Amino acid sequence: MASDGEQRGNPFSPGFGRSPAELVGRDALLDELRSEIEAASSGHRLCSILLGVRGSGKTSVLNAAEDLAHESGWMVLALDTTTRGLPQRIARAAAAATSADAVDLRPRRRINSLRLPPGIALGWECAESISDEDPRYLLSRLAETAAARGGGLLVTLDELHSGERDEVRRFASDFQHTAEREGLPIGLLGAALPEIQYTVLEDRKLTFFHRATLRRLQPLTAEQSFRCLRATAAGGGGAFEADALCAAAGAVNGSPYHLQLLGRSAWEAAGAPEAPIDAAACQLAIREAGQEFRRSISEPAWNDLSDAQQDYLHAIARLHPSATRRAVAGELDAPTKWLARTERRLTISGYVRMTDGDTLEFAELTQRQDVLDFAEPESGYRRPADHPNPQRARFSEATRPCGEWMPVAKARCALGRGHKGGHRTRR
Ligand SMILES: Nc1ncnc2c1ncn2[C@@H]1O[C@H](COP(=O)(O)OP(=O)(O)O)[C@@H](O)[C@H]1O
Ligand SMILES: [Mg+2]
Repeated sequence: MASDGEQRGNPFSPGFGRSPAELVGRDALLDELRSEIEAASSGHRLCSILLGVRGSGKTSVLNAAEDLAHESGWMVLALDTTTRGLPQRIARAAAAATSADAVDLRPRRRINSLRLPPGIALGWECAESISDEDPRYLLSRLAETAAARGGGLLVTLDELHSGERDEVRRFASDFQHTAEREGLPIGLLGAALPEIQYTVLEDRKLTFFHRATLRRLQPLTAEQSFRCLRATAAGGGGAFEADALCAAAGAVNGSPYHLQLLGRSAWEAAGAPEAPIDAAACQLAIREAGQEFRRSISEPAWNDLSDAQQDYLHAIARLHPSATRRAVAGELDAPTKWLARTERRLTISGYVRMTDGDTLEFAELTQRQDVLDFAEPESGYRRPADHPNPQRARFSEATRPCGEWMPVAKARCALGRGHKGGHRTRR
């Protein structure tokens, strides 16, 4: 893969957190967010979380929503939660914005910054020792300052799933205090992996987020991919040939990140913009982008799963195209409760989906061939005397651990597979 330096002139941007030249398929969502921001100015609650797999375009939508808020005269505090230190980052962003040159501030980095509406300065000083600054106090001060100018404060929290639970709880309580007790115009827009639905959103101490509006980013349709590839190439002064464009759009499979990978490779292979992007360049790009997507998205996603969950996906891959629940149950011989829970989790997380014909198939994160390839290396280790259906044998071994990931304990369950009651780190 070429480095960014070699990519000058290439309008495709397959980097996480990099807004695309053409943001497609998100108009309706951005219209909803625009209305919510307007309503929040007059006291309505604004608390939404964007959910989507890696590369589905959450950060890009956050960026666009921040632009919308900024254009409506709102202050924007953009934060990410990937590392500890959320309160300090709030304080640091506020302190940076109190400096004289912060007026009309348009930060180069999206995260951990405070963007003020044009022509507005905070007009107050932050304490020197920012680590001691109380985030609740700062949020209130910022929201008050924004309200005095007829706007509000939009806080965006990217990568909310990876936040340290104690910090997220504290932030939620500070935010709630500012919004509800003090009645200040402050809105929250978060972005997270869909797994958050069974981690943070099931945390009994985080009821604040239970009331958030959840918005799942939909995969791009082939038509949206077609438009995006065409418009992005045109924006860079290049063009796809008609059949090449159709083939490329058909191979995107819903992921904006995959689209950008594919577009970048096709552009490069064709020698665009001087030459048109033809079928041969697209064929090469489809292969390259597929490999890169598998390396950066599908493989880590596969490795995040417990052995039992991997077995579940492998069964679906083997049974394709007839992977009904009954057929999967027949293959795996696992407790029905476990099967139902696994289906729910893997559906929420974007691994599988149920088709109209009541069969399970692969969704955004992985493709059938990937699962077969990831699972097959193990079969080389099978002994001749092993059970004829290795998956069935694995499930009947009471000694094999459940392996379910427990996000709070940050460990996998050590109890036997199909155990009763909650998960535990020790037997
Ligand atoms: N709606 C979209 N249309 C076209 N490209 C997009 C869209 N959303 C995101 N992208 C591109 O896809 C890649 C991943 O987007 P990003 O917002 O970082 O995803 P996420 O935050 O969900 O991991 C980036 O290269 C971005 O430019
Ligand atoms: Mg992101």
